[in-house]
Amino acid sequence: MSAKAPAIHDPAHWDSVSTNYAAEADRMTRRYAQAAWELAALPSGARVLDVATGAGALLVAALRDGADAVGIDFSPGMVEIAQARAAEIRPGVRALVMDGQRLDFPAASFDAAFSIFGVFMFPDPAAGFAEMARVLRPGGLAVVAVWENAGGAGPAQLFAQAAQRLFPDQPVPLPMARLFNAPGLLDAAFMEAGLQPVAVHPVSYTWPAPPVDWFREHAKLAYGWSPVWQLLDDAQRTAFAEEAAALAADLPAEGITSTALVGMARKPG
Ligand SMILES: C[S@@+](CC[C@H](N)C(=O)[O-])C[C@H]1O[C@@H](n2cnc3c(N)ncnc32)[C@H](O)[C@@H]1O
Repeated sequence: MSAKAPAIHDPAHWDSVSTNYAAEADRMTRRYAQAAWELAALPSGARVLDVATGAGALLVAALRDGADAVGIDFSPGMVEIAQARAAEIRPGVRALVMDGQRLDFPAASFDAAFSIFGVFMFPDPAAGFAEMARVLRPGGLAVVAVWENAGGAGPAQLFAQAAQRLFPDQPVPLPMARLFNAPGLLDAAFMEAGLQPVAVHPVSYTWPAPPVDWFREHAKLAYGWSPVWQLLDDAQRTAFAEEAAALAADLPAEGITSTALVGMARKPG
């Protein structure tokens, strides 16, 4: 099951899940995006790039705060959603279809470049970090958010546990080659790109646990983006949803706490 290239490297995969992603996953990621935006504390009017913008979580936070922001994503479906959300705040083209490993922007054109749960998914994450560094002006800020838990966040953590139980040959629930899920790993990636690490901030939120049936009934909505889900047939999907529901019965009353690492680094100069 791990021999094929993961679906996360295919823009068509993200196109096919974009509506569900905007309705479900983005509700979680936007809280971390908002935290990353606030931690960056940029001046009003800063030129901001959001790499792998998805449904525009960081892009929207930046535009709301007066930044001159643009988001890119290799999935046209995601870009359409991000552009529609951005247009409600500011006019103009604010989301573009582009590969984060080959940015179509001149060097030194942004004050800050963010990637929220994006660059670590690329087939070549080092190319993503290097491109963020290239388009930053000297002194500019790079901000990269990754999941600390290899299963992702919120309900996805529980679905990932179910996947591990049913498919123990899968090395990590998230199929990234490098997760960067420790401060030293993030710092090393920044340095490899010629950036100077500034800080890595852990950011945690607790998700109220949905009722057990929710995991059974909403497995596709909540986890359909995952390459694990994509590889299952209908019977396996039903078994997988049942496994998740069984695990959910043991969730603590307060819910699922998930931590993101928000790494920051500066371009020398
Ligand atoms: C987990 S989502 C994160 C989206 C958004 N930043 C958020 O926080 O909700 C990952 C995004 O990375 C995009 N992506 C994956 N590989 C990419 C690449 N090589 N270039 C640009 N975008 C890419 C996907 O289309 C998807 O929208």
